[in-house]
Amino acid sequence: MEKFSYKELGLVNTREMFAKAMKGRYAIPAYNFNNMEQLQAIVYGCIESNSPFILQVSSGARKYADATLLRYMAMGAVAMIRAAKSPVKFALHLDHGDTFELAKSCIESGFSSVMIDGSHHPYEENVRLTRQVVEFAHANDVSVEGELGVLAGIEDDVVAAKSVYTQPEQVEDFVKKTGVDSLAISIGTSHGATKFKPSQCTKTANGVLVPPPLRFDILEEIEKRIPGFAIVLHGASSVVPEYVNQINEFGGKLEDAVGIPEEELRRAARSSVCKINIDSDGRLAMTASIRKVFAQNPKEFDPRKYLGPARDELKKLIIYKNKEVLGSAGQS
Ligand code: G3H
Ligand code: 13P
Ligand code: ZN
Repeated sequence: MEKFSYKELGLVNTREMFAKAMKGRYAIPAYNFNNMEQLQAIVYGCIESNSPFILQVSSGARKYADATLLRYMAMGAVAMIRAAKSPVKFALHLDHGDTFELAKSCIESGFSSVMIDGSHHPYEENVRLTRQVVEFAHANDVSVEGELGVLAGIEDDVVAAKSVYTQPEQVEDFVKKTGVDSLAISIGTSHGATKFKPSQCTKTANGVLVPPPLRFDILEEIEKRIPGFAIVLHGASSVVPEYVNQINEFGGKLEDAVGIPEEELRRAARSSVCKINIDSDGRLAMTASIRKVFAQNPKEFDPRKYLGPARDELKKLIIYKNKEVLGSAGQS
C-alpha cells in the first residue's frame, strides 16, 4: 500500500487540541464512523457548532469501509471544511488498536493519532507494546493513546464481563515508561448500549434505571499523580432514552439499555478528561430514525429516504453533544 503522512492530507494530531481542551476545561468529542452518512453528520455537525473533533475508526470499521477509501473520506472531510471556509480541525484516530502492525499500517495510511489498547495484557506487556507503538508514532509526529484498566462490555473483539478500575498507583510509571500522549482510564463507564445490568442500578419512582455513579475519586487520584495529563473516557454514550424508546416503539427490542448520565459527562469534561468517545449514541440515533421511516412508510425503498433522515438526526445529536455536554462548541 502507498504511504501517506496525515500532514499531506491536511489533518492534525491531538497534541494542540488536548492542550487547549485542558486549559479551556472542555473535552474533544471522538465520534466513531464507518460510512458516508456518519461522516457527513460528524463533519457538518462540527462545522455548524465550530468544534474541533476526532474521527475515529475501529479495526472493524477499517475492514468494513476499506482502508484506502477511508483515506479518501478523510481527505473529503478536509475539503468539505475548506469549502465551508470553516476553521475546524480534526484528527483521524485508530480506536482500540490491538497490535503494533495495525497501528503502523494506520500511521502509514494517513492517521494522525492511534490508540494502542494493551489493557487486556499483563502490565509489563502493556508497557512494552505501548512503548513500541509510541516510538514509531512519535517518529512520524503522530499522537498515541494508551489504556490502563479494563472497561466492562465489548472493546472491539474483546469482551470483558467486569470492569477493572484503573489503579492510580500505576499511571505515573505507565506514562513515564511508554511516553504516551493521553491515557484512557476505567472509572465505571462501559461500551455499548447496555452498560449496566438492572441489578447494578437503582430505580426511580417512575421506573427509570439510575446507573451506579462514576468513580470520580479514582479520576481525582489519577489527576494528583499526573497533573495536566490528557485523560480519555471510553464508553461514554448516554444511551439517549428518547432513541431507545423510539427504536422499541417501531419494532426494536432493546432491553435494559442504560448509559452515562449527561451530568457526569459534563463534570468529566471540565476535569482533565480531554477526549470523550461516543459511538453507541450515534448508532441509536440513526437506527431510531430508520425504524420510524420504515414503520411509517413501508413502501419506501430509496436509501436516501431513510439514510437522509438518519444522517440529519445524527447531525442534530452531534451539535447537541458539542454544545451541551462536552463544551467543545465554539472552540475551533
Ligand atoms: O469501542 C468500540 C467502538 O464502539 C467501535 O465498535 O468495533 O463495533 O466498530 P466496533
Ligand atoms: P460507547 O459505546 O459508549 O459509545 O463508547 C464508544 C467508545 O468508547 C469507542 O471507543
Ligand atoms: Zn472504546
